[in-house]
Amino acid sequence: MRTSANPQVTSDASWWRDAVVYQVYLRSFADGNGDGIGDLGGLRSRLPYLSWLGVDALWINPHYPSGGADGGYDITDYRAVDPDYGDVADLEALVDDARRLGLRVVLDVVPNHTSDRHPWFQAALADPDAPEAARYHFAPPSAEPPNNWQSLFGGPAWSRTPDGRWYLHLFAPEQPDLNWGDPAVAADFERTLRFWLDRGVSGFRVDVAYGLFKDAGLRDNPGAYSPTLFGHGPEQAMTWNQPEVHDVWRRWRSICDEYPDTMLVGEVCLADLEQVALYSRPDEMHQSFSFRLLKSPWSAESFADGVRTALDAFGAVGAPVSWVLGNHDKDRQVSRFGGGALGTARARAAALLVLALPGSAYLYAGDELGLPQAEVPDEAKLDPIFFRSGGARAGRDGCRVPMPWNADRGVGFSADDAATPWLPIPADWDQYAVSRQARDGGSVLTLYRRALALRDAHPALGSGDAAVSRRGDVLTVRCTAADGSVVRCVVNMGSETALVRTRGTVLLASTTGVRRSAGSVALPADTAIWLAEA
Ligand code: GLC
Ligand code: CA
Repeated sequence: MRTSANPQVTSDASWWRDAVVYQVYLRSFADGNGDGIGDLGGLRSRLPYLSWLGVDALWINPHYPSGGADGGYDITDYRAVDPDYGDVADLEALVDDARRLGLRVVLDVVPNHTSDRHPWFQAALADPDAPEAARYHFAPPSAEPPNNWQSLFGGPAWSRTPDGRWYLHLFAPEQPDLNWGDPAVAADFERTLRFWLDRGVSGFRVDVAYGLFKDAGLRDNPGAYSPTLFGHGPEQAMTWNQPEVHDVWRRWRSICDEYPDTMLVGEVCLADLEQVALYSRPDEMHQSFSFRLLKSPWSAESFADGVRTALDAFGAVGAPVSWVLGNHDKDRQVSRFGGGALGTARARAAALLVLALPGSAYLYAGDELGLPQAEVPDEAKLDPIFFRSGGARAGRDGCRVPMPWNADRGVGFSADDAATPWLPIPADWDQYAVSRQARDGGSVLTLYRRALALRDAHPALGSGDAAVSRRGDVLTVRCTAADGSVVRCVVNMGSETALVRTRGTVLLASTTGVRRSAGSVALPADTAIWLAEA
């Protein structure tokens, strides 16, 4: 595959402000050694694809040795690579290769909890008086757990040790929460950050950055969490968003500042975007994800509200918005937006909206292929959410299924065509393969590639000043660049064709059905266009 003329990475301290960051779910991206599991070798071999696509950076989901209870988010060694994926030398080689192609590499770091197999937790289990025990939240044996806190994956957030103590886990029992009040915890994470920064990575996506500290008195939470909310709020005030956590991000920021061109982007799942934005104040993390659109139903009203709220909240602290339409925790957009041709049309339109907006855009691997949520049979499921909810919640496996690369070779995920992929790939996914879509001018992949090239070419796209307006079902974002050039993104989220008055040029349309006439454009339902205004 021909790579773009993009030269190697050049120094730029604010590259992240308008970057398109591609999220690589490592286990599912490309299997280089044919064992059915994606790995660093496979990812290296696919870097030319990412350069050809036109993204600026990649964020890799956890690559660390793990207990395997939560897709790698239960880490046993923070300064190593899981043998399934390769070794530290492979990661260094990946960073070097990526730089040569103009791509930066961002790693995931998980500070809220370790694996229960982490040597610290093992030492704490073996001896309640070991110094490692103070690095977690233990409570003495008692009939009832210390309070009403619930695990985000379902059930109580407290489990018992074999000797009857309670320990806290806001996620799975295999993920004991760290006690950030113990200075040894902070010191060890600083070592971890430097370990990877010294190897040339461009920063970190910080897992559960709104966690870490808990109410010191372990008071009951006032209410229950509901996954249907935009995020956590006052009902969960005792477990999330404690004020002390901001000092950690100030410290991490100062460490990153010692390394040129690095950044931190936090996962902050709070309902109030003004609270989320506080994590991106100038001396804290560079960015925190805006998940509002990830949870918005397909309606102009809710998208307009999501875009405005994010622009205002992050604007108030001087940080760019980090837009997210999909990730490894959420159903694929195509399925969320209605599935099939309808869902695909909407996902195409949403891509144009998000790539026009000022800020950085996080693009989840496979979304550029228009992958739907895969049906994963229950017996193949691995996500603890499915098990801890007794099957009531489907879980996240369906958005973590391996990438289809080559339609002529099954799907070409593995170096060995006969390998069994770690999650089953639906039989008809050859239709989404990169090899097929790269040749098809009407494919989702081609749309993304064109959009990314235009975003590079037009300063109004991705970094302009945005004005949001809505007329009924039609959402318009007018983006003005510093040089005065204007691009309008118009999205018709209704069910009727809409007439858009313009004398400008259509740079890109999410469908072929757009009709141009003198002074206006007819925009079909579930369609977006980019208009360069004269
Ligand atoms: C974050 C991750 C998710 C993981 C959880 C616990 O939300 O994105 O995948 O399960 O943290 O680490
Ligand atoms: Ca492999």
